Amino acid sequence: MIIAVDGPAASGKGTLSKRIAAHYGLNHLDTGLLYRAVARTLLDQGEALTDEAAAVAVARALDFRALDEARLRGAEAGEAASVISVYPGVREALLQGQREFAAQNPGAVLDGRDIGTVICPDADAKLFVTASTEERAKRRWLELQKSNPELLFETILADVRKRDERDSGRLAAPLKRAEDARLLDTTKLGIEAAFQMALGLIEAELAGKK
Ligand code: DC
Repeated sequence: MIIAVDGPAASGKGTLSKRIAAHYGLNHLDTGLLYRAVARTLLDQGEALTDEAAAVAVARALDFRALDEARLRGAEAGEAASVISVYPGVREALLQGQREFAAQNPGAVLDGRDIGTVICPDADAKLFVTASTEERAKRRWLELQKSNPELLFETILADVRKRDERDSGRLAAPLKRAEDARLLDTTKLGIEAAFQMALGLIEAELAGKK
């Protein structure tokens, strides 16, 4: 079984995907980490994010089993990932590995921006998780404030808007709801309620396919 979960930054799709994978006993891949790893490597090597050929070479050599999540989290890698993910060659280089991951037994939950549209268009169930821009910025701000109390909400709101624009506006596999994806708006939902709602949508989709 393959479950595709897409949505904008800070929509809650990562947390939900982990829980969905645990619930069904499936593997889980946060595909944002792949783009973050490519960006992090370029930054560490002192290469410009505008160097498309260098980004493609790093993407081709990326080992999916060696993703250091703790090192890849954070605003800098996320912002840089959003920049290099516009390159078609980078997306192409990461495509096959994602499909192979999805095809492994016993199946997987993949979360990202283009899972339902490009990576796994035949997924058994697809969710598009979203929340209002203000709510997503608020969640991220509350999280980041723990380590940086000076941080202004307006700064985070501007960052989230910029990332949305770049992720949705790019030509190669933009963030877009697949026509057959079920919409889950988490603006007014806590994590537990959102999880129960997600399970309900997935079960309805699976029942409809029997
Ligand atoms: O989900 P995230 O914040 O970790 O993703 C970081 C960036 O990576 C995001 O702004 C766009 C890019 N990305 C992508 O283009 N396609 C995906 N499937 C996942 C992430």
